[in-house]
Amino acid sequence: MSDVPRIVTSAQTGPHEDLLRRVTRGLSHVWRKPLAQHTRDAFDDAEAWRRSQGERGLILDACCGVGLSTRRLAEQFPEHSVIGVDRSADRLSRDHGPLPDNALLVRADLVDFWRLALATGWQPERHYLLYPNPYPKSVQLKHRWHGHPVFPAIVGLGGRLEVRSNWRIYVEEFAAAVTLATGVSAPVEAHDPGVAPMTHFERKYHEHHQPLWRLVATLDHRPQLMPTP
Ligand SMILES: C[S@@+](CC[C@H](N)C(=O)[O-])C[C@H]1O[C@@H](n2cnc3c(N)ncnc32)[C@H](O)[C@@H]1O
Repeated sequence: MSDVPRIVTSAQTGPHEDLLRRVTRGLSHVWRKPLAQHTRDAFDDAEAWRRSQGERGLILDACCGVGLSTRRLAEQFPEHSVIGVDRSADRLSRDHGPLPDNALLVRADLVDFWRLALATGWQPERHYLLYPNPYPKSVQLKHRWHGHPVFPAIVGLGGRLEVRSNWRIYVEEFAAAVTLATGVSAPVEAHDPGVAPMTHFERKYHEHHQPLWRLVATLDHRPQLMPTP
């Protein structure tokens, strides 16, 4: 089977026409999906580990896949605690060497994990969302993180949020959603990983000369962005 990563193709030529309506809805409607017990349990373990780390700043690596970025961040920021979260047991179980003491990999559904983190008062200093699934079909807007009802929790956590994708429109939409929710502008820029790609997917895309995009937004901690009953 070919390991050449597919270029994202989509009928969309720019940000989705329904994007702002969906983001506005997420910011104004209480979302009542119950939290799954397995993610509650995984979150409790992560919270116990975080507390055991003392007063270190927190870095969240959401959709961490095989956890390369979690390892890299833990090495780059030895004074921080780094938590990588992914729902794929298969990806998390792949052997990519020992985890640094200041890193933890967690299997959980971020749809629930982010809400628990917000409710528990987590305030990550840095928050990474590297190469999330693009869901490029127009009808899939609600599956992209900025079109998902959990989006207010993502931005409500605050901190330096960095999103990377090989689909420019994904990052443009995310930037527009960040600005609508928080008033913070998040310029979209080309990303060149150079000789040190941070993730497995970044390495594959870069090796196949796909252009990469990113945004960085520095956000206040605003748990009230997530509507509550
Ligand atoms: C395209 S991969 C990118 C992985 C990694 N960041 C990288 O760049 O190599 C997207 C990842 O998002 C994870 N993911 C998607 N939806 C998720 C969810 N609801 N909760 C946790 N992880 C999720 C998938 O399991 C997958 O590992």
